[in-house]
Amino acid sequence: MIPREELLALAREVAQRAYCPYSHFRVGSAVVAGGKAYVGVNIEISSYGLTLCAERSALAAAISAGAGPITQVALACIDVPPESSIQERSPCGACRQWLADIAPHAVIYIDGDSRDFTVADLLPYAFGHQAKGL
Ligand code: THU
Repeated sequence: MIPREELLALAREVAQRAYCPYSHFRVGSAVVAGGKAYVGVNIEISSYGLTLCAERSALAAAISAGAGPITQVALACIDVPPESSIQERSPCGACRQWLADIAPHAVIYIDGDSRDFTVADLLPYAFGHQAKGL
């Protein structure tokens, strides 16, 4: 378990490495698996719809490292003003589905919001089915 504020600080720090030449909207994510942190940033390409969000980037890093179950997820949108709403700093729909599939039991921290979220808070009635052959 990495303390909430420490993980959020890591997400904010890594967000500075976001590759977002189109939106200039920097996002960082830090996830914990097996007690270790893995990070990701948003990565935009010229075909805008193929952009990779920070959360999916961090989840992919943890999976790629062969890490165990993901227990914590932190997200930081460092270009939103502190007074802006939760909608302006919370995970997109695609990332919520990734969280439901890849980190179903994680506690989720959103920078600028004091609540601890579950996947069910963010994506009630999430689609899911058992992968065949696993
Ligand atoms: N973005 C994320 O990285 N995570 C989200 O959950 C929401 C959106 C990124 C995608 C794009 O690079 C930028 O924020 C603006 O939408």
